[in-house]
Amino acid sequence: MNIGKSIKFCFIGLAGMLACSPALYIPTPEVAQRTNLDINYLNQGRQVYIDHCGSCHRLHLPAEFGEPAWRSFVNSMQPRAKINDDQKKLILDYILSGK
Ligand code: HEC
Repeated sequence: MNIGKSIKFCFIGLAGMLACSPALYIPTPEVAQRTNLDINYLNQGRQVYIDHCGSCHRLHLPAEFGEPAWRSFVNSMQPRAKINDDQKKLILDYILSGK
C-alpha cells in the first residue's frame, strides 16, 4: 500500500480512523518473508479485515487471541460479515501473520 493510498483511506470515516490506529499492524517485508506470503496479499488481508470487521465492534488486534481462537472467531463471524471463503482466508492470513 503506498502512502497516498493510506492517507486517502484515513479519511473514510470511523473505520478509516481505526485503520490508522498504529496498533493495527501494517505488514512489513520481514513479516512477508517469515510467513512466506506476498506482502501485497497480506496488505489486501488487512484491508478486507478493516472493511468487513469493524462495523459492529472495534477491530480486535492479532495479539488478543491465540491462533485456534482466531480461527473459530473468524469462522463464526463469516456470516455476520458476509464474507466469502477467499476473504476469510485473507483475513486469517493477515491476522495470524501479525502474531
Ligand atoms: C454484524 C456485526 C458483526 C460483524 C460484521 C463482525 N462481528 Fe465480530 N462480533 C459481533 C458480535 C455481536 C460479537 C459478540 C460475541 C457474539 O455474540 O458472538 C462479536 C465478537 C467478535 C470477537 C470476540 C471478541 C471477544 O472478546 O470475545 C471477535 C474476535 C470478532 N468478533 C471478530 C470479528 C471478525 C474477524 C469479523 C470480520 C470477519 C467480525 N468480527 C465481524 C458482531 C460482528
